[in-house]
Amino acid sequence: MGSEKVIEEKKQGQALLTANKEGNSKKLYIESYGCQMNLNDSEIVASILSEQGYNTTHLMEEADLVLVNTCSIREKAEQTVRKRLEKYTAVKKINPTMKVGVLGCMAERLKTKFLEEEKIVDLVVGPDAYRDLPNLLAEVSEGRDAVNVILSKEETYGDVSPVRLNSNGVSAFVSITRGCDNMCTFCVVPFTRGRERSRDPKSILEEIKQLVNDNYKEITLLGQNVDSYLWYGGGLKKDFKNASEIAKATAVDFSQLLDLAATEFPKTRFRFSTSNPQDMSLDVIRTMAKHENICKYIHLPVQSGSTTVLERMNRQHTREEYIELIDNIKEILPDCAISQDMITGFCGETEEEHKDTLSLLEYVKYDFGFMFAYSERPGTPAAKKMEDDVSLEDKKRRLNEIIQLQRAHGLFRLEQYVGKTVEILIEGTSKKSETHWKGRNSQNAMVIFPKGDEQIGDFVNIYVENCTSATLLGKRV
Ligand code: SAH
Ligand code: F3S
Repeated sequence: MGSEKVIEEKKQGQALLTANKEGNSKKLYIESYGCQMNLNDSEIVASILSEQGYNTTHLMEEADLVLVNTCSIREKAEQTVRKRLEKYTAVKKINPTMKVGVLGCMAERLKTKFLEEEKIVDLVVGPDAYRDLPNLLAEVSEGRDAVNVILSKEETYGDVSPVRLNSNGVSAFVSITRGCDNMCTFCVVPFTRGRERSRDPKSILEEIKQLVNDNYKEITLLGQNVDSYLWYGGGLKKDFKNASEIAKATAVDFSQLLDLAATEFPKTRFRFSTSNPQDMSLDVIRTMAKHENICKYIHLPVQSGSTTVLERMNRQHTREEYIELIDNIKEILPDCAISQDMITGFCGETEEEHKDTLSLLEYVKYDFGFMFAYSERPGTPAAKKMEDDVSLEDKKRRLNEIIQLQRAHGLFRLEQYVGKTVEILIEGTSKKSETHWKGRNSQNAMVIFPKGDEQIGDFVNIYVENCTSATLLGKRV
């Protein structure tokens, strides 16, 4: 399976740290669950609070403020956060003045219910309301509970320069869109993160410039659906059709944004996530081909290999259209790696439809995959209109079948690199061995090799000698 994507399990819920700002005396303990966009939001929150006198800490016992940035994508994610609140309750016994805030998708989904149900919570702040944190904290310090979960049509935090949390100093994430308009029937994101809006390309390029000046070597552009990026002077994606002729003529789409970034910063590696099959254009693929520094890796969630399931999921494309897109990618970018997200046991999924998913896996032979059993989310179109009628047993068996198959394909893809030389960016010391570096090639495969005189952040060429199911092993050439 994949080594890193939007959700990196090992990073879930770690205390997030950044360099201290002189003069700040209050202590913030912040942890983040769910996708990379949430982690990036936590960096925005830490930046806003740094201006309010807060430095980060990894000791909850000494924190003035504990914040948890939450995820609602599956039921399990929400349960994890509920468990953390129990932990905070225990710590509050030793640190009675500490305040607790819930941020992110659960805040928006559960709103004031949180303050009623969880006595420990003082503050509830939705993903578009982080600028209001100073006011909300003032309310809390006067002894009142504070809530702001209003979703915005404009907020992109374009002018907030995020502080980097738990950074390796090499790779960073830059959000380019917020929200999602796609309304996949299983998905809670359009409800928790609101309508889709794009960020001003000027502010994106400014942020990248700052990162490049700070010596970052790899930047991942983030959005729920990056291919849908469209800047025409501000406003919602859905209102583009009403824009003025000038606004339309000077609009910037995702392939143009990629081209601008890759051209202006030729020594920086660019990645992006997530691509949505219904919006990914040939222009984006051609722009990837044009620039060496745009990594040859596309995360292209499909969710199911069956046209009828895709229809029930409201994914706006058929199996055949998806395959055509894959064929185009392979033709224009022969060495491009592709990964998937899949959901097993969606409402009404038959054994036949599941077999269509297995055969799609066989056809594409994805490099990486992220697979989940369907989890009904309250308030989504599927929860309202469809029956969650596949038994847990079938969901799990089908999940297991696609995981097994994906594992074989992942290994097959990695084996293709054995005997070849790949360029990697050194990200840090290998988790398993102090004497080895780790880094990824353009296709996002993790590579381990013995340390020499290289440093973190160096690009080096590695001859691949061997591989395990998730890692390439090699030596410098
Ligand atoms: N914007 C991305 C996905 C965001 S959510 C896209 O275009 O697909 C990340 C992944 O979580 C999804 O791709 C999907 O595979 C999974 N997911 C979302 N809702 C889910 C649910 N209700 N049950 C199980 N998995 C879900
Ligand atoms: Fe969710 Fe579909 Fe958007 S999976 S994030 S509604 S593209």
